[in-house]
Amino acid sequence: MDFKIAVIKGDGIGHEIIDETIKILNKIGKKYGHNFKYTEALAGGAAIDKTGTALPEETLNICRGTDALLFGAVGGPKWDNLPGRDRPEQGLLKLRKELGLYANLRPAVMFDELRRSCPLRGDIVEGGLDILIIRELTGGIYFGKKYTESDKAEDTMEYSRHEIERIAHIGFQTAQKRKGILTSVDKANVLETSRLWRKTFEEISPGYPDVTLNHMYVDNAAMQLVYNPKQFDVIATENMFGDILSDEAAMITGSIGLLPSAALGNNYGMYEPIHGSAPDIAGQGKANPIAAILSSAMMLKYSFNLPEEAENIENAVKKALAKGCRTSDIAMKNEKVSTTEEMGDIIALSL
Ligand code: NAD
Ligand code: IPM
Ligand code: MN
Repeated sequence: MDFKIAVIKGDGIGHEIIDETIKILNKIGKKYGHNFKYTEALAGGAAIDKTGTALPEETLNICRGTDALLFGAVGGPKWDNLPGRDRPEQGLLKLRKELGLYANLRPAVMFDELRRSCPLRGDIVEGGLDILIIRELTGGIYFGKKYTESDKAEDTMEYSRHEIERIAHIGFQTAQKRKGILTSVDKANVLETSRLWRKTFEEISPGYPDVTLNHMYVDNAAMQLVYNPKQFDVIATENMFGDILSDEAAMITGSIGLLPSAALGNNYGMYEPIHGSAPDIAGQGKANPIAAILSSAMMLKYSFNLPEEAENIENAVKKALAKGCRTSDIAMKNEKVSTTEEMGDIIALSL
């Protein structure tokens, strides 16, 4: 089959990790007889430099003409002093908003082979970890009214019932297919938006009698993630809380360089690692491409309905780790460190 993929490498390590991901997709294409056709587009700092804006109209048009979007990362010190609305990160936020990608699935799964890279005590993660964070992606404080003057600034957190309802349904339905435990994370002891969030989840809950719904304040959730992460199955939360908790969950599995994501709307998906452009290691062959490669597996599963091919990629990642391949973020002292490209090669060989 033919599949059209928009590719935005972005800035920093975005290029290195997406190059490895395309290597993997090409090999999968060959193996299973699919034709992946890529169209590159600009966003973020690279787009600012070339076109003066972080999200050129042409990029949106390219995305709209494809079946899915593969995204690297954007941002970097070069653009850090631009006014907020002109920054590279706005390109990413606008993409999510314009393409209607309101549900962000961020699976934090621990590979047996990386047990030693987890910074938590062995007994805390014994038996492994498999948490799915569902982050609301097009609402909340990221998109509320903003205001700034020289000595006062404001960001507004807004949520409508509709925005919460659609995430809640995804949370319940996803939990039904897993262990049936849904933890809704909020700050309902302080925030009005969180009180509406909690009430909405409560109202929807009776429609899913096979799912146990728990509520947890976000500060406690941050603590529980390191104290007893195995209690979690599916976590559903608003935009900013999900951003923060998913970096924490990534590290529990061994590195931020491991956690993929799918940003889904009603008829399009964007697939990106949860990490950023990592300017501190960009261009040095140190980046771990696994988060991006696993994001492409999510693309095969969710946008192209190719579960077998997706599983092949996941298994190849496990095999490469079992063979001892380690980028610097997951290597233990005295272990041989592989480059981004070597990791990509070994995963490709393991397909
Ligand atoms: P970051 O995720 O880029 O980096 C945090 C730390 O993790 C760094 O030490 C980095 O070297 C390391 N790291 C990240 N990805 C890695 C990988 N694949 N392999 C090995 N190590 C990895 O976050 P930051 O430093 O806070 O932000 C840097 C820039 O990226 C900023 O401009 C920020 O706005 C942007 N950012 C973009 C995205 C995105 O495009 N989705 C996400 C987060 C941050
Ligand atoms: C992420 C990033 C983005 C976010 C930034 C770069 C806008 O941190 O994808 O997790 O906060 O959503
Ligand atoms: Mn983030």
